[in-house]
Amino acid sequence: APLSPPDSTKCHKATDSDADPKEGDCCPPDYGKAKMVDFTPPSPNEPLRVRKAAHRYNSDDIVKFEAAIAKMKALPANHPWNYYQQANIHFTYCNGAFDQLNTKSLLQIHESWFFLPWHRYYIYFWEKILGKLIGDDTFSIPFWNWDNPKGMYIPRMYLNSKSHLFDETRNRDHYKSVLDYKYSWGDPNPTDTNAVVTANLAELDSIFKETLQFPALFMGKALRAGENQTPAPGRCESLHNVMHMWGGPPTPPYWNMGNFRTASRDTLFFGHHGNVDRMWDIYSTFRGQKVEFRDPDWLDSSFIFYDENEQLVKCKVKDCLTPESLRYSYSPEPLPWKNIRR
Ligand code: C2O
Repeated sequence: APLSPPDSTKCHKATDSDADPKEGDCCPPDYGKAKMVDFTPPSPNEPLRVRKAAHRYNSDDIVKFEAAIAKMKALPANHPWNYYQQANIHFTYCNGAFDQLNTKSLLQIHESWFFLPWHRYYIYFWEKILGKLIGDDTFSIPFWNWDNPKGMYIPRMYLNSKSHLFDETRNRDHYKSVLDYKYSWGDPNPTDTNAVVTANLAELDSIFKETLQFPALFMGKALRAGENQTPAPGRCESLHNVMHMWGGPPTPPYWNMGNFRTASRDTLFFGHHGNVDRMWDIYSTFRGQKVEFRDPDWLDSSFIFYDENEQLVKCKVKDCLTPESLRYSYSPEPLPWKNIRR
């Protein structure tokens, strides 16, 4: 059966082992009292939000993005739009703060076919809320274009220590070094940048080629209501884990970027997931938009989020299959990895 949103009155302490007891409670504010309605996708007349690559942001773009984040951080701590409440949403769906509805199985949307649709909704609402806070209904969030050599660094705007986009927990050794898709915690910076860039591009090309006919290999394998999750991430998710490791510090508990619990406290998370989401869009385009899984257990599965009207909404996978259906898109960037010769 399809996954349902959890019983909002039954949020409990998260179960992951890195828990700091003071941090154990990640239940959203007033969840029990809030009424849930079905999500209605935006009308085709709504303006399209065009997401741009972070490395192309000019100073006006940066100022606007920072202003929106500043407003989100300034909201009362228990406001559902508050920056840290927004970060907690990730935690509740990842670290066992909820059981699946009417079961003893923990709710975990990673390492399964829910990884891409859940994060698509997550950053979609984050974007809409930010736009609302600054009164701009065309506001869009940046994506960290790490599939392009120019984007294989932490985009500069995230490295200004006076900015709301900065996070001091990141690995300083990586401020200026090239992102290596083969990175594992503690690895030294590569000495041959060109070789790393080429290897990254080739890796991405293989991922797309080898999974194009097999969505479960790209997206992750099936997880159905009542099942205990056995990790079965797709290659898109496995690759995405590298940026989490590389962005965060090399030692446990790897806060912020390197740990599910805290990753989305770093604004870089949303840039990263912008590109992860863009990878899904590219994958889907390569496939002529053929639906990845024609399975009601996927299509009718649903999650809950707070929308830009502070309304709790129940969102189905089938309503987020293309960015267009949510009225956003990605500004075209070259795909230098596509059919790369090796
Ligand atoms: Cu929910 Cu990048 O992980």
